[in-house]
Order: sequence, then structure tokens, then C-alpha cells
Amino acid sequence: MAKLRYGIIGCGGCGRGKHLTSYSKMPDVELVAVCDIIASRANFAADQFNVEAAYTNYMEMLAEEELDIVSVATPNHVHAPATIAALQAGCHVHCEKPASLTPELVQAMVNAKDKSGKKLMIGLNNRFTPWAQFAKAYVAAGKLGEIYHAKCGWKRRRGIPGKGGWFTTKACSGGGPLIDLGVHYIDVCNYIMGFPKPISVSGQTYSKFADGQVFNPNASGYTGTYDVEDLAVGFVRYAGGLTLDIETSWASNTESEYTFVELYGTEGGLKYEKGRLTLFSSFEGTQMNTTPLLAADGAWGLAETYHYIDCIQNDKEPMSRPEEAVFVMKIINGLYESADKGEEVKLSTAKVKAAKVDVKSPAFGK
Ligand SMILES: NC(=O)c1ccc[n+]([C@@H]2O[C@H](COP(=O)([O-])OP(=O)(O)OC[C@H]3O[C@@H](n4cnc5c(N)ncnc54)[C@H](O)[C@@H]3O)[C@@H](O)[C@H]2O)c1
Repeated sequence: MAKLRYGIIGCGGCGRGKHLTSYSKMPDVELVAVCDIIASRANFAADQFNVEAAYTNYMEMLAEEELDIVSVATPNHVHAPATIAALQAGCHVHCEKPASLTPELVQAMVNAKDKSGKKLMIGLNNRFTPWAQFAKAYVAAGKLGEIYHAKCGWKRRRGIPGKGGWFTTKACSGGGPLIDLGVHYIDVCNYIMGFPKPISVSGQTYSKFADGQVFNPNASGYTGTYDVEDLAVGFVRYAGGLTLDIETSWASNTESEYTFVELYGTEGGLKYEKGRLTLFSSFEGTQMNTTPLLAADGAWGLAETYHYIDCIQNDKEPMSRPEEAVFVMKIINGLYESADKGEEVKLSTAKVKAAKVDVKSPAFGK
């Protein structure tokens, strides 16, 4: 069987650390081309992964190379145009999280995927972890009974990804920790709970560290735009009465960085915190805590990439679908809107209208 010809758009931390690293380990994939708007980054990635062709414009890469799969690991505002351009060029696309900036943009990606007949998967790697897979099966087996409340979050004490770059520029990122970190665990909760329909949200955001020097010492910039939040809290109501509590921060005076998911059901509960899953149940009046002996999480993106190759080769539906990302974006955008207005926001249940997207390579920055 001919190898799948692979290219990537965006050769920064995630592009090299997750995508190129995992695709370089796939036996049926040939790394053909890399693209980064910054030439030195494209060249560095090409050297590191022994790739022949390096581009600074993805439209040129897509026109000149015959690619089967393209990863999109750019700043968030480039996800929709780059993904749609690659789908239109006849490629399967593995796009990073968050899928895009708004539900309308994600819907445009879904429509482009449907039109192309190719497979589009969103890189929500936390779904692919052994604990999330176990929790999904455990809940589907009815072990928690009726789930009526959930909690999730990702808190950092000192983890603002620089200042003045795309992460802290709302036009490029869509927001701070809520869209950057929260997207993972809101998505995991939706996935484990079987995608309940969100009907309203109430949120609040805080930006308390924009003028200080409370930045990740490894991140580059210390000056420039910082128009996003550093702490976000939110409350989601789903149809049927289920609720979800969310807390995410890039910087907050809390204990060290941790992630968590808690599900409360009528028959049992579960808690994932700091890498450990505990199940709560009872038997004949005696309460029990159980710790499943799960496999370690494995390398970043590897399980997800193996899965995606399997989907392409064997015509299967990817586990992380862009249609599901539309719901996550509705929740996240709704929480930002609620924070801006200072009131609860109802989420429409009507089908999301796709945004118009100009697919030409957008520039980094504003
Ligand atoms: N799944 C995960 O765990 C995870 C972790 C980190 C980042 N991410 C996601 O990956 C994406 C990239 O994040 P990062 O940390 O690698 O950022 P980064 O800034 O390190 O890398 C982004 C790269 O994209 C390039 N770029 C910008 N505009 C471009 C364009 N028009 N064409 C080609 N290249 C362009 C930049 O020059 C940069 O090298 C983001 O969407 C982020 O949310 C996901």
C-alpha cells in the first residue's frame, strides 16, 4: 500500500512536539512538506524531521504538493481558513483544538468536510487517554445511574503563555484559559456524558495579571497585547436538568497546576484529579472507593494519531468529530458573552449557520 503523504501547517510547539513527532512514528506515513509563516521555523522543522519541502504559505504548499493528510497546528484564528483550504485541496485534516473561534466558523469547517468527503478530526487529545476511555465506557454501562451534575477545570498557578503573542491577543486566540485549557475538559465531560444539549450558560472572566510579571518563565514575551482573561468560571445548564461547573486559569493564587473532572450520578460518581481516577459507589449500604489500574497516558498525541490513521485507512468515523466541537464552541462563546453582559445567556438549539471564510493564508498577529 502506498504511504500516506503528510504535510503540516504551523511548526511551533504543538506542531513539532505533538504532530510531527507522532506522524514521524507512523509506519504508513511519509512526511512530505512543512509550512510555517516564519521561514526559520519551517526550515527548523524540516531539518529536525528530515522533510524535503518547507513553505511559508500554505496555499502554495497545498497547490504544489500532493498531500493525503494535513495537520493544522497554527494559532486558533488560522484553524478555519487553513483547514478549509486543505479540505478543498482534497486532504484529510487533523486540526488542533480549539476547532476555531466561534461555532459559525466550526460549522463552516464541518460543511467543507462534508463537501470534500474527507475526514476532519479535532486534536482533543484528552479524549484518547486511558482514564477518559474507561470513564466513557463506565458511564455508558449505566454505572453512575442518572448523572445530574459535573465539574471540570484546569487551573494553573503561574502559566500565562507569554504576553503580546497570539495566545493573549483575543482576535487570534478567541480568549484566554477558557478557550485554551477549558476546551479540553468541557469537551471530555460532553464526550463522557454522551453529548447532552447545552441550553444556557452563565460565566465570569477575570484579568488580574495583565499588568504584572506573573508569567511562565519559559514563555517569550513580557510586553504587548493582553486582552484576554486569566481566570474564567462558568455554569452550564443542559436539557433535562444536568449542570456543569467550570473553572480554568492561566494564573491564580492556588496550589500548583492541576486538572479535574467530577461526575455526580444517582448510583455512583467519579473523580479524575491530578492524573488519578477514583470511582465512588456503594454495595448493600457500604460506600466504596475504587481505583482502576489504568495504563499510563502515553506520548502526547500518539494514540490520537494512530486512531486517525486507522480511520483513514479503514474508512472509520474519527472519535473526535468537528460536529461535536460546534457544541463546545457554543458553550465557550456563550460563557464569554455572558461574562460581557453580566447575565445568563440562552443557547439557541437551531442549527448553527456557517460563517463565510476567506481561505487565503492569514498573517500572524492582528
Ligand atoms: N492539543 C494540545 O494539547 C495542544 C497543546 C498546545 C497547543 N495546542 C494548539 O496548537 C495550536 C498551536 O499552538 P502552539 O503552542 O504550537 O503555538 P505556537 O505559537 O508555538 O505555534 C504556532 C505556529 O504557527 C505559525 N503560524 C501562524 N500563522 C500561520 C499561517 N498563516 N500559516 C502557517 N503557519 C502559521 C506560527 O509562526 C507558529 O510557529 C493552537 O491552536 C493551540 O491551541 C494544542
